[in-house]
Amino acid sequence: MYLCTVNSFMMTLEKAYEKTTDFVESIPKTERKRYGQFFTSKKSASFMASLFTPNIGKATIRMLDAGAGTGLLTVAMVERLRTDGYEGNIIVTCYETDGKVLPTLYANLQGLAEKYRIQYSVITENFLLENTAGQQYDIIIGNPPYLKIPRDAPEALAMPEVCHGAPNLYFLFWAKSIQQMKTDGELVYIIPRSWTSGAYFEKFRTFLFGNCVITNIHIFESRDKVFDGESVLQETMIIKVRKSTVPPENVIMSASATADFKNLRHYLVPYTTVVAPNNFVFLVTNEEESNTLARINTQPETLATINMKMHTGIIVDFRTREVLRNEPEDGTFPLLYSHHIQDGRVKWPDGREDEYVKTEKKGLLQENADYVLVKRFTAKEEKRRLQCGIYLHSEHPEYQYISTQNKVNFIKCREPEEAYGLYVLLNSTLYDTYYRILNGSTQVNSTEINLMPVPTLETVKGMGRQLMAGKDMSETSCNKILGQWIR
Ligand SMILES: C[S@@+](CC[C@H](N)C(=O)[O-])C[C@H]1O[C@@H](n2cnc3c(N)ncnc32)[C@H](O)[C@@H]1O
Repeated sequence: MYLCTVNSFMMTLEKAYEKTTDFVESIPKTERKRYGQFFTSKKSASFMASLFTPNIGKATIRMLDAGAGTGLLTVAMVERLRTDGYEGNIIVTCYETDGKVLPTLYANLQGLAEKYRIQYSVITENFLLENTAGQQYDIIIGNPPYLKIPRDAPEALAMPEVCHGAPNLYFLFWAKSIQQMKTDGELVYIIPRSWTSGAYFEKFRTFLFGNCVITNIHIFESRDKVFDGESVLQETMIIKVRKSTVPPENVIMSASATADFKNLRHYLVPYTTVVAPNNFVFLVTNEEESNTLARINTQPETLATINMKMHTGIIVDFRTREVLRNEPEDGTFPLLYSHHIQDGRVKWPDGREDEYVKTEKKGLLQENADYVLVKRFTAKEEKRRLQCGIYLHSEHPEYQYISTQNKVNFIKCREPEEAYGLYVLLNSTLYDTYYRILNGSTQVNSTEINLMPVPTLETVKGMGRQLMAGKDMSETSCNKILGQWIR
């Protein structure tokens, strides 16, 4: 650990950036990639620094830059504080483990100290394994390393409260930084978007929202061009959180095509729309999306809480070829595929191959009950992401069991009106738009669907009764019914 205090001389973000560029050019990209070393662009660094709302009446501001690289973010932050007229003490702590970048980091910090009168220390130990107790920092700025590590790596074992499977260093840095932040302290990070939904980050999100609230989010609309000269194809965002349990009324959202921040757009989105009750975070890009989320996120239940969980079909056909049949025979049962979903119904059989199963294995069969089937693979480009159909056991009462192929999801219902009611939800434009905002991949993921807010069971059944009476299964008809129940 090194500690120095100096004043006067010259160091600007521009100079620190030149030194960063020299460093980047001196080390092969493959080597830097190994420890997740991508440097922030000058404009992103200034933008990140501009998001803080520091209390400039304070005698001392302590700041942290963990995974500091060449120190560009620290330079941008200190410059911002001094340019705003902050005259108190600035005490900076940087963590950096890469010996090759350290000379550039020291040079930049020394220059900064000489120009702006700061105290700094560089800690060359692993940030995630340092035994640092206490909440020390007012300001935390960072671009953490992006690197997946094994679930039994020492860094993962050190933070069991946020890990689920093999974690990525970026959210371990984020969690550890939060632990070290003072109450009402502020953190600005540039990170991938992946943490915002899905089961893998659930523990992390619980930890995050147990300690912090989001105040600002910046979205880069283009995947590429966020890190100067680097082809980082992760979708990237900038986030600011405050250590507090009192959320602001709105999150200040902004978006720009690339990291040059040209055509920067700002908009306010209600906090409860961005951070849903199930802790999913929605990166809202316009008013229509904001309205969709506001309507859905206020619904009181989930499919899990009304006991109607979605599951993935049980037959992986290429692994169980021996149980498949083209024609009915003694002891065969219907096997439902996604292609059987047609015009809101499950139309089985339709004359294709392997539509029957013959097996004694109970694990390959399910009760012949009422179901809503939902296609598991649908592309962004298709008119709808959620494509579903109703299967009623009364249409095939001769069978005790049925089965489902694993490219279709199913929800078991207790009575037809539940199936029709769920169909109204899943076939509406509102829920389709919601799912598009939530999930950009081609899979309709049951974990996400099961956590999606839905109305009470009574409402679902009420909508179902209305659809059954009207008999029009179209999207327009579902929208009309939904509009009467969900404002
Ligand atoms: C994505 S780079 C960001 C560098 C700089 N903050 C910037 O924004 O340009 C992350 C940095 O973290 C460092 N690093 C990786 N693992 C670390 C660890 N466990 N402890 C401290 N630093 C680490 C890497 O060497 C790298 O310089």
